[in-house]
Amino acid sequence: MDEKIPVLKKPILSALEGNVQKKQPIWLMRQAGRHLPEYREIRAKAGDFLSLVTNPTQAAEVTLQPVRKYGMDGSILFSDILVVPWAMGQGLRFEAGEGPKLDPMPDVLEKQLDVLLPIYETLRILSSKLENTSVTQIGFVGAPWTVATYMIEQGKPSFQKSRDFLVSDRSKTLFKQIIKVTIAYARAQVKAGAEVIKIFDSWAGQLLGSDLHKWSYEPMAEIGAALAPTPVIYFPRGGENYLQDLTTLLSGNYAFALGQNTSITQVREAIGPGVCLQGNLNPDVLINDEAKQEEAVKQLLSEVQGTPHIVNLGHGVRKDTNPKRVQALVDQIKAG
Ligand code: CP3
Repeated sequence: MDEKIPVLKKPILSALEGNVQKKQPIWLMRQAGRHLPEYREIRAKAGDFLSLVTNPTQAAEVTLQPVRKYGMDGSILFSDILVVPWAMGQGLRFEAGEGPKLDPMPDVLEKQLDVLLPIYETLRILSSKLENTSVTQIGFVGAPWTVATYMIEQGKPSFQKSRDFLVSDRSKTLFKQIIKVTIAYARAQVKAGAEVIKIFDSWAGQLLGSDLHKWSYEPMAEIGAALAPTPVIYFPRGGENYLQDLTTLLSGNYAFALGQNTSITQVREAIGPGVCLQGNLNPDVLINDEAKQEEAVKQLLSEVQGTPHIVNLGHGVRKDTNPKRVQALVDQIKAG
């Protein structure tokens, strides 16, 4: 007998094609990281954050810790959006408790793309470990606007300087340079095994009206188009008001990830039934009153029932989250 055995699509990839899943797939932003004691142990051994990111064995291990522990449907590469400025020649370090710090932006950016090579090795390890499983390997990049805010302000942005920069002579050139390196970096992630790329525009909400289109939506769409046919998850956090306009710039399979202040139902009404959405529980739900967590998850599930959806938070898992609460969330979603 030569009957074909049906190949089941991975739930996240199937949802990205617009298919409604029997049970909603789940992964969480920052599912790997400081809320996990087993992460903190490896992080301490590695020394600083960038040493961990550029050690493929350790980076693959911390990527997989939450996948194994919780039974996540997605595995997000352990890295950071700020490796792109680093690869463009701007010095980068992560100081304990202070977040990222960048050197002043040089007048001439000298690319050193080789610093990214260990990250591709991490992805090769991950894709070999996830072969023949239902887990989707997710790669990611920062969107040009969010990356630019850190480059311009040399760390946590307050946005005035970044907004001023947008009206300067140099803005178009800088965005072009970021887009070029980001496309090369994302394509190399796909080649090394990433099955979907998420584009993080964490600070899209700081752009208003036509600036949101020009500096967030259009650059993200340009990057997404260059990655075809790889599916893309777009995350213009806080800038979801005009997603209908963004759809006109996109093709292929994609999803919109939503921040926690955005109504899934309203976005669904605006964009129609076919596009996959991702999100958007408030990360505080996993910290606040335990008795209320189950109710919040139920509410989300009823809102997204019968639609292509990937369950996630509206922002990253907070470091003071108890792993038991994450497990309870995943178990509730798996129970359907
Ligand atoms: O989601 C994941 O688990 C994948 C890995 C990942 C990290 N950063 C690891 C990280 C991803 C997808 C990112 C994206 C990222 N990085 C964004 C966009 C998403 C968002 O959070 O809005 C941004 C703005 C950054 C820049 C960045 N990196 C900041 C502001 C910080 C410091 C804040 C913090 O949480 O400490 C980082 C450091 C960082 N990136 C850590 C992790 C796990 C903490 C480093 C540590 O272990 O000390």
